[in-house]
Amino acid sequence: MGALADILDFARWAPSGDNTQPWRFELVGPEHAVIHGFDTRDHCVYDFSGRASQVSLGALLETITIAASGSGFVVSVQRRMHLPDTRPTFDVHLQAGAGVRADPLMDSIRVRSVQRRPLSTRPLRAEQKSALEAAVGPDHSVLWLECFADRLRMARLLFANAQIRLTMPEAYPVHRDIIEWGARFSEDRIPDQALGLDPVTTRAMRWAMQSWGRVDFLNRFMAGTLAPRIQLDLIPALACAAHFVIVARDEPQAVEHFVAGGRKVQRFWLTATHHGLQLQPAYTPLVFAAYVRAGVRFSVAPALWGQAVQLTARLQETIGVEHAGRAIFMGRLGFGSAARARSLRLPLDKLLVRAG
Ligand SMILES: Cc1cc2nc3c(=O)[nH]c(=O)nc-3n(C[C@H](O)[C@H](O)[C@H](O)COP(=O)(O)O)c2cc1C
Repeated sequence: MGALADILDFARWAPSGDNTQPWRFELVGPEHAVIHGFDTRDHCVYDFSGRASQVSLGALLETITIAASGSGFVVSVQRRMHLPDTRPTFDVHLQAGAGVRADPLMDSIRVRSVQRRPLSTRPLRAEQKSALEAAVGPDHSVLWLECFADRLRMARLLFANAQIRLTMPEAYPVHRDIIEWGARFSEDRIPDQALGLDPVTTRAMRWAMQSWGRVDFLNRFMAGTLAPRIQLDLIPALACAAHFVIVARDEPQAVEHFVAGGRKVQRFWLTATHHGLQLQPAYTPLVFAAYVRAGVRFSVAPALWGQAVQLTARLQETIGVEHAGRAIFMGRLGFGSAARARSLRLPLDKLLVRAG
């Protein structure tokens, strides 16, 4: 493989929402590739306006830049502006530069992974927080919610958020299609063992996820959302050092704002990994808040709109109304062991496409 293919092979370890990997690579020349991005808004309710995919593409572009630094290249990126927002496409050029230093975050690219299980509540050290704040650069800032009261507030918010996710008919096909059952690793989805459920609840969920009818029945008559919400939301939200919110200086609106934010998200996450911290995003409250702000009904279930409006108010209260519209990413982090089960990636040959 040439240097460019090696760099892309490394960079494909960038994170993406639900491990969708919304990118394909075209090798044009030894130092020129086209990144063909796409989004999943047509079938994934969490990809409002393609934003989650755009954040993921930003993470990929940042990872390409970091990976290229290890081989002595600087990277320039231009978006092809004539293509629709649903297909963000980027020309990536490598340039050998004397004195290009390998980015210290290189070593974290392959190691970084979501940890969805409880973490230690040991507080972050001051130097870790400063490094994480520096990682997002001058156009973004980091809000921290660390003390028990703040974590409890966030736990309650995520508990309410999960009620929407788990009872929304539109989310059922998304969850069904992105979980690989009976798996510790998955190339193109999330393995069930990486979700953070205990084995009994995993089995119950696997049974229920065979049809929306089963999910709906469990939700209505058996308090079916309770065990997953406690295990996936409430306990992990308390069991961490801190929740973080990455906030843009100006309200992000266009594709390039979300791509730029995604670059910072990846630097933040790799910096956390570099400092031995585990991280889990909690992205969906921002999705529901974006639907509410835009006035876009996201579900046929009438009760869910009111719940999303309440959730948005709670988010504004928790992180500040002045930040809520500018928040591009949030999650929790803390000390803990790396996840035993994780998403893998499609091999490079499956990501390569030809021109046209
Ligand atoms: C934009 C975006 C949103 C995400 N949202 C969530 C989330 O809400 N909850 C979660 O557990 N993981 C979330 N993730 C993590 C992805 O599921 C994860 O990166 C992907 O499955 C690949 O796994 P890995 O990061 O362990 O390699 C998100 C990632 C991105 C880039």
